Amino acid sequence: MIDRATAEKIKDAADIVEVVSDYVHLTRRGSNYMGLCPFHNERTPSFSVNRRKNMCYCFSCHKGGSPVNFIMEKEGISYHDALLQLAKKYGIEVQERQMTDEERMRQSLREGMLVANEWAMLQMEHNLTETQEGRDIGLQYLSHRGLTPEAIKKFHLGYALDRPTALADAAKSAGYDLEVLKAVGLVGVSQRGNLYDRFRGRVIFPILNPAGKVVAFGGRDLKGGPAKYVNSPESDIYKKNRELYGIHQAKNEIVRQDKCFLVEGYMDVIGMWQSGMENVIASSGTALTDGQIALIHRFTENITLLYDGDAAGIKASLRGIDMLLSHKMKVKVLLLPDGHDPDSFARVNTPEKFREYVKAHETDIIRFKTQVMMQDAADDPLKRSDAIRSVVESLACIPDPITAKVYIQECARLMNVDEETISTETQRMRVKVLERIRSERRHESEKERIDVELRQKEAPDPLPKHERTSDNDIQKKGQEPAAKPESRLYPLERQVVRYCVRYGMMDFCEGVDEGGEAVWLNVAEFIDSEFRADGVAFSSPTFSSALETTLAMKARYKTDAERYKTARQPEYDEKRRKGIDEIAEKALDLNMIAYEEKMLDERIDEEMWNDLRLFSAEYTGRMLASHEDDGIRRLANECINDTPPLSKRFDRLGQNLPEHERLVELLPRAIDELKQGIIRLRIDSLMKEMRDCQQNGDTSRIPEIMQEISHLHQLQSQIAKAIGERVISPIR
Ligand code: UTP
Ligand code: MN
Repeated sequence: MIDRATAEKIKDAADIVEVVSDYVHLTRRGSNYMGLCPFHNERTPSFSVNRRKNMCYCFSCHKGGSPVNFIMEKEGISYHDALLQLAKKYGIEVQERQMTDEERMRQSLREGMLVANEWAMLQMEHNLTETQEGRDIGLQYLSHRGLTPEAIKKFHLGYALDRPTALADAAKSAGYDLEVLKAVGLVGVSQRGNLYDRFRGRVIFPILNPAGKVVAFGGRDLKGGPAKYVNSPESDIYKKNRELYGIHQAKNEIVRQDKCFLVEGYMDVIGMWQSGMENVIASSGTALTDGQIALIHRFTENITLLYDGDAAGIKASLRGIDMLLSHKMKVKVLLLPDGHDPDSFARVNTPEKFREYVKAHETDIIRFKTQVMMQDAADDPLKRSDAIRSVVESLACIPDPITAKVYIQECARLMNVDEETISTETQRMRVKVLERIRSERRHESEKERIDVELRQKEAPDPLPKHERTSDNDIQKKGQEPAAKPESRLYPLERQVVRYCVRYGMMDFCEGVDEGGEAVWLNVAEFIDSEFRADGVAFSSPTFSSALETTLAMKARYKTDAERYKTARQPEYDEKRRKGIDEIAEKALDLNMIAYEEKMLDERIDEEMWNDLRLFSAEYTGRMLASHEDDGIRRLANECINDTPPLSKRFDRLGQNLPEHERLVELLPRAIDELKQGIIRLRIDSLMKEMRDCQQNGDTSRIPEIMQEISHLHQLQSQIAKAIGERVISPIR
């Protein structure tokens, strides 16, 4: 968990234009940036990004908010993860804070799963060598495939006894919770509701994460059944597209050699390891995902793909190279003699031969692709142009311009095409390719999210359900006594809290503190003092905590405002200096100079004042819009993004006065309207009480009720009058 100070630091560092630019192509429009909204399909840009406010907003689908909100929405991740992502982007070190009970529970559940897997791995290793069945079937098979005892030990290979519930039973008697075994997928539940061992009768390949924790298993069939391999399902501890088989055993050697080999299967990794090549990992038969490439990239930039030299192997080797290139990986390909996979090749060749073969046949992937595709196209002009386009696409994925240039030269030569042409085409393709890669990445993370959601639906969740907060959280939170969205008070409270959330830190009026001293109240303090005076409070907890949070923000605001002022000062000093120079140049006499200078000072003062005023007007909303509390954050975003009604009042330049300059009239009225609303509600309920009394023939309380009603009527008219007459001295 991220501590508050770090969270603030991250939020301060996050620049909305930079953040959005990772997803949206922005063009400058005045002081704003515009682009196509990433949250809905559109052809004309309605997505606006405002650097000064550090906010974005879609005028069409109304999504947007602070950088944190944007990332949350875009990546479909939590507040916490969004902060982490931003921290990474801005290189901010994150010290995680103590976890909450629920987090600790989830964490300990994860740990429980890892412990269960570790136990199961040892259990199955034991089965392989220490039981008759294991030796006769499992070990027999592995020896037959030429695996040495060292390799078996190194990769923790095992055997699952061929009985329906052998592992489940062993787990139970060892004191493991069967729910946990179900959660990691070691034990499944049949349609009839019976438990069964998922891997029974199979040779077991544990999948370790880089840290050596057992996150999953692959189990190989030995009886010619339909599924050659069965793998653990995804779970809290196993995300298929983020793990690589063999990475734990290979990582040191990968770093040492600054290079890794990528093969397809479990057996290939082990076969090559036996042949003395330890920097080998497997993608488990699928194309590399973004997350897997990122994992490799932690250890090296150099990767060599190993494939069978048949047509299928060649095709497979070209799949997914654009993704690798876009990660700045330096990719080579190595085709093995037709019909060989790395495992079989390692078995028929000495380690020296294997190494020699690698040296002689490793080819740069782009050169390889170009050659293959040109050969394939031969003299067919259509195929040729397809080939060129495909090569250009790969070239466009190379992020480093110098590397790209070198390749462009070489490919142009190989394809016998003018270098200039390839270069221009690559440039043109780049935008498209980047968009495609991004969307693939999005797709991947989207898929992951859906998977997680589906799993949560399926699996009986042993955890207390996470309180889900959805877009209309504010309404839901509001469904507490009195201020339901449909209640009469709700819109009135909402109106007041809106001023607090938008303009809370703006200086508002003079008041007196407890000691009778005159002090400036800001908007939030004014609301608070008005509430206290009449014993009023928001009935919505979200609204109350928004007010509390705003009130507590003052000290930080003061420092920030001071810092902002200091930062802007040089600019105004410079303006003044320039102005004075100009005056000196054209002035005719000293009086004139004095007058002009006075005017200049006034002008600059006013500009500065407006500047600070705007800073203060936007400060509160900006802070609350990235607040850690979901309710407050949503409220803030709602309030900031609505468009205030246009004023009928104008400033001296004939502009509509902005809302924050009209608070003097707007805010007290909103507060009074709320008070009126509360009184009306009270009167209504007293009237009802009185009717009830009459019906029940209980007349004793009636005089009391009538007196209270008349008192409330009086209050009502006082407030009504106050709305018209209240005198407030605005700052300035
Ligand atoms: P291979 O068929 O090449 O497997 O599939 P292998 O590891 O070389 O095994 P042997 O040599 O036939 O014993 C490559 C990888 O694809 C995944 C596994 O990760 C396998 O190692 N795979 C394959 C599955 O997950 N399920 C399958 O049914 C088949
Ligand atoms: Mn194989």
